[in-house]
This record gives sequence, structure tokens and C-alpha cells, in this order.
Amino acid sequence: MSLSGKVAVITGAGQGIGEGYAKGLARIGCKVAVADINAEQGGRVATEIRKAGGEAVFVQVDVSSEESAGALAQQVKDKYGAIHYLVNNAAMFGNLDFNPLMSVDLGYLNKVVAVNMLGSVVMTRACVPHMGQGAAIVNQSSTAAWMNYDYYSFTKLATNGITCVLARELGPKGIRVNAIAPGPTDTQALRAKVPEEYLKGMVAQMPLGRLGTPDDLLKALVFLLSEDAGWITGLIMNVDGGQWMRA
Ligand SMILES: NC(=O)c1ccc[n+]([C@@H]2O[C@H](COP(=O)([O-])OP(=O)(O)OC[C@H]3O[C@@H](n4cnc5c(N)ncnc54)[C@H](O)[C@@H]3O)[C@@H](O)[C@H]2O)c1
Repeated sequence: MSLSGKVAVITGAGQGIGEGYAKGLARIGCKVAVADINAEQGGRVATEIRKAGGEAVFVQVDVSSEESAGALAQQVKDKYGAIHYLVNNAAMFGNLDFNPLMSVDLGYLNKVVAVNMLGSVVMTRACVPHMGQGAAIVNQSSTAAWMNYDYYSFTKLATNGITCVLARELGPKGIRVNAIAPGPTDTQALRAKVPEEYLKGMVAQMPLGRLGTPDDLLKALVFLLSEDAGWITGLIMNVDGGQWMRA
């Protein structure tokens, strides 16, 4: 599964799961574009990767903006010559306000949809002109997609649909598109959003009985990006300790 020398754009890589993805891919030899709206955190991650001997550049991006996504793709192409992998991990999650659908401000809801749902489309449209045969895209979904809790859930359900539509459209170009649907994964954002007691209850009902880690997800990401997954596209892969089983 050699990904060495490949160029990977990872959105939302300034912290949490995206940081784990960026550092993990850099460790196995990818040239990594750490793409995040948060310049301080994104810059920190890129610097840490370089200090550890890896190759990384920080590029600030707002995944909901075509202009910003286009500028990022051009910058990565200019620096590294091509884009081989795109990981659409950014979302409003740690900083998300959870409100009832009946009363949430519509402007705010539109922003959540633009980032969590359409951000992957905007980023894919920006990057694909610089990608070729053998390239791969992985979108970050969630088991929340099937739980219908709130608007976060339906943006992730739409991410699954978007993944399949893009897999159809980009298959003929030799570009595969899959998604990872993580269960509860131990990040600062999860701890901030989900009360400890509720988390304990969730974990108690999961067959594998523990929270996931960014490293659990990284292993699935490396597989989906690699040629070992060369005949897999349009897959929504649960990586969730058995939290959500679909028969
Ligand atoms: N942690 C979990 O339990 C869990 C479970 C399932 C899915 N997920 C998904 O995994 C991803 C990462 O989760 P996390 O726990 O690391 O969350 P997080 O909130 O820590 O990370 C999200 C990152 O996205 C960035 N971001 C937000 N809006 C952006 C924008 N418009 N443009 C660019 N970057 C933007 C943030 O700055 C942040 O660095 C998210 O897509 C989340 O929905 C997380």
C-alpha cells in the first residue's frame, strides 16, 4: 500500500481527526497540504510535520467558498505538481451550535449545509482538474447520518449520497470516491460536544466497547486511498466499533 511521494490535500487538518490524517499520511511519505480555515492550528500542524521530517504546507481554506477552494487547489498544484488524494474531512462539528430544526436561524442552517454538505462538492470540483487516473477522494461522513438526531445528521446523510454521485461521475476518469463513517472518536471536539455520561452510555452499547481514535480511522483512510482499494468506489465504510450495523 505505498502512498509514498503522493500529494494529499486534507481539509479540516488543523486539529482532531484531520490532524491525525495529515500526520499519518506524512509519516508514510505523502506530501501533505494541511487545509483548514483556522490558520493558527493549521500552521501548527504543518510545522510539526516538517519538524518530524515530513513534507507539508499549510493552506488556509474555507471549503464553502469556490474562490478559496480554487486558490488552494492552484497553490498545491504549483507547489507539488499534482493532487493525488483529496480528503474532505472539514466540517462544523466542534464549533457547531445544535438547535431544533424548527427554530434554527435559516442563515445559520445554510452555513452548516454549505460547509458540511456542499464543502466536499466545492473542494472536489476545485481539485479534480489537477487529479488524474488513479487518484482517490475520501469524504468524512458519520454514523450520525443514520441516526436522524439533527441537522448535523442530515448533512452527513447527504455526504453519503454525494459520495455515490461523485463516484459515478468520476469513475470514468479513473478517480475513486469513497467515504468513512466514523463512530464516536476521541477528539477535543467530541469531548466538548457530548457529555461524559452520554458518551459512556453510547460506548456501553457498542460491540467493541470503546471510543475510536484518529489512528483507527487513519488505517481505513490509507486503505481506501491505496491501490489495494483499486476496485472500490461509492463505498460508505463504517469505522465505528460496530456502533451501526447495516445488513
Ligand atoms: N469526533 C467524532 O466523534 C466524529 C465522529 C464522526 C464523524 N466526525 C467527523 O470527522 C471530522 C473531524 O471531526 P473532529 O472531531 O476532528 O472535529 P473538529 O471540529 O475538531 O475538526 C473540524 C476541523 O474542520 C475545520 N473547519 C471547520 N469549518 C471549516 C471550513 N469552512 N473550511 C475549512 N475548514 C473548516 C475546523 O477548523 C477544524 O479544524 C468532521 O467531519 C466530523 O463531522 C467526527
